[in-house]
Amino acid sequence: MNDSKSVKNLIGENDLVLVYLNEKRQFLVQITPHLKLSSDFGELILGDVIGKPYGYIGKTHLGREFYCLKPSTADLMMKVKRTTTIVYPKDTGYLLLETAIGPGSKVIEVGTGSGALTLVLAKFVAPDGMVYTYDRREEFIENAKKNIERAGYINNVEFFCHDVAEQEFLQKGVDAIFIDVPEPWTIIPKAAKVLKGGHHMVSWSPNVEQVKSTVDALQNNGFIRIKVSEIVEREMLVRQQGVRPRERGVTHTAYLVTSQKILGSGFEI
Ligand SMILES: C[S@@+](CC[C@H](N)C(=O)[O-])C[C@H]1O[C@@H](n2cnc3c(N)ncnc32)[C@H](O)[C@@H]1O
Repeated sequence: MNDSKSVKNLIGENDLVLVYLNEKRQFLVQITPHLKLSSDFGELILGDVIGKPYGYIGKTHLGREFYCLKPSTADLMMKVKRTTTIVYPKDTGYLLLETAIGPGSKVIEVGTGSGALTLVLAKFVAPDGMVYTYDRREEFIENAKKNIERAGYINNVEFFCHDVAEQEFLQKGVDAIFIDVPEPWTIIPKAAKVLKGGHHMVSWSPNVEQVKSTVDALQNNGFIRIKVSEIVEREMLVRQQGVRPRERGVTHTAYLVTSQKILGSGFEI
């Protein structure tokens, strides 16, 4: 019988745990023996959950219950330390499936930002794929590195501090390009030169005007199957007195653009 830590589902030092007290009080923590987690529900010592299984129920010093849950990929994204806006899980899930990437793929990302998308891309291409991520702001890259390291995917990411509107990409023949910057159209001609033929370029933009310029640039740079979509997520409240959608929430994130490159003059990879 395999009695490894993962089969027993036990929490170890440095593991990520979602400490859940209630909907408003949930914390993504890396288990460190002597660190305390404090909230208005009381304190708990993280080291006390080492050796306990995920799903464990503990109590704070004020006697409030907390639950040790396995963080989802969406939790890893939503709980990065943010220095920029981030992409949302609903949009990321859709766009990942609109590309052909998987374990072993080589992917370029433009606009590292806080690294929320980077960590998902890295998880998707691991164990032997690579994400080449570009941002023009060194301080954003430094913060993103910490977020991705905490998520456990730093070995699948290479960081480049470049303004991609001004400088060329350093890779060639990548399997997909993900763009989340305010002006994707300034990058598309360069991206077209390094993306494999038939493969996917996708981008996020909050405004319709940005989408129009992006689509124009895609059409002028050898892309077809250009599609623009918006993913709407509506959470439902399920209660004794009635079931209905929640009144508040994130009502708009971004328009999503997907496209595929065809081979033509200047774009032969
Ligand atoms: C909205 S944030 C990206 C957020 C990221 N997708 C995430 O989920 O954390 C946009 C980022 O693009 C970077 N950026 C904007 N224009 C750029 C350019 N021309 N070259 C490189 N980075 C650029 C900004 O510095 C910023 O960090």
